[in-house]
Amino acid sequence: MRAVAVFPGKCEVGLIGHETPEITAANQVKIRSLEVGVCGTDREICTFVYGSPPDGFDYLVLGHESLGQVVEVGSGVSRFKPGDLVVPSVRRPCPHAYCLACREDKQDFCYTGDFTERGIKMTHGFMTEFYVDEQKYLNGVPSELRDVAVLVEPLTVAEKGLAQVWRVQKRLPWVDPKTPAGHLGAGKNAVVLGAGPVGILGAMVLIVNGFKTYVYSRSKAPNPKSELVESVGAKYISCEVENPDQLAERVGNIDLVYEAVGTAKISYAVLRVLGLNGIYIFTGIPAPKPPMDLEADTIMRNLVLKNQVVVGTVNADREAFEGAIHDLGIFLKRWPTALRSLITGRYKIDQYRDLLLGKATGIKNVIVLT
Ligand code: BGC
Ligand code: ZN
Repeated sequence: MRAVAVFPGKCEVGLIGHETPEITAANQVKIRSLEVGVCGTDREICTFVYGSPPDGFDYLVLGHESLGQVVEVGSGVSRFKPGDLVVPSVRRPCPHAYCLACREDKQDFCYTGDFTERGIKMTHGFMTEFYVDEQKYLNGVPSELRDVAVLVEPLTVAEKGLAQVWRVQKRLPWVDPKTPAGHLGAGKNAVVLGAGPVGILGAMVLIVNGFKTYVYSRSKAPNPKSELVESVGAKYISCEVENPDQLAERVGNIDLVYEAVGTAKISYAVLRVLGLNGIYIFTGIPAPKPPMDLEADTIMRNLVLKNQVVVGTVNADREAFEGAIHDLGIFLKRWPTALRSLITGRYKIDQYRDLLLGKATGIKNVIVLT
């Protein structure tokens, strides 16, 4: 079958013939790939600074944002049947008995670094026609979400981020006890950095949870992304028009920052204006760059005097996938046009080269495999 693969040793990316996987254990499910999202991580792997093939291979099949359809199930599979739509998670646990996180199905918090990630680290991904996985790593998707469910994986970034926010902020009286469940961000100000898919999906989650939400991004408004975020009720601000101090003045106390821009300079500039008792969530994975100047004393002083917390978050657990599937259903009812317009292009697998190596365009581009 066809697959898009990267050969790090040869610094090549290509469309290859890859052996079709078959079910070899009772708990496995065979899945036909329907759609695979392309993201910054895939593009970075194609610059050969990140990503690694499985043992015994000189290539890695790419793709970690998948929507698939079950075609066959092993004899021990109870949760799925042929025809079901599924989204797989990305990370698989490390083998070590002493890794408390992996032993409790929390491989997103793996201690050893010996986890694998499908399409990223030592396990083939989903940019191919069929794949096999254990049922415990699959999440069922209702058929109404068929045309947007490829957004589940990038949405899990925000779901896990927000789950961290609720836990960390339990350290103080952050949420008024009278606030209705499901609206815990009411009265709070959130700033999203970046207007890519992770940022826009993050803004949607924050709005649904009641936060007054601002998106701070580079391009001047109006532009397609600013129009999209304003259509769902966020305020778009260009960092070319307002600097971080002006942003803070406009927002008031910045209670939450959700970083989805992936570069340090603007991210730390906004950390400097985080508010009292504020929480700052980093999700971006920047490529290494030379050192830069930073207002480090001011940031440190604020962290202490303002009781601030900075949290890094990577990957996602089952709860985050289930939350993403649930929230995508809410977004689809509330903003059908805006949500669908996040997917700016659907392409055939032969067009992988432009998508992975060409200039980044649009918001979320998707490879359709059927
Ligand atoms: C993926 C995560 C993964 C991370 C680091 C992201 O693009 O969405 O699942 O853990 O890259 O490899
Ligand atoms: Zn991704």
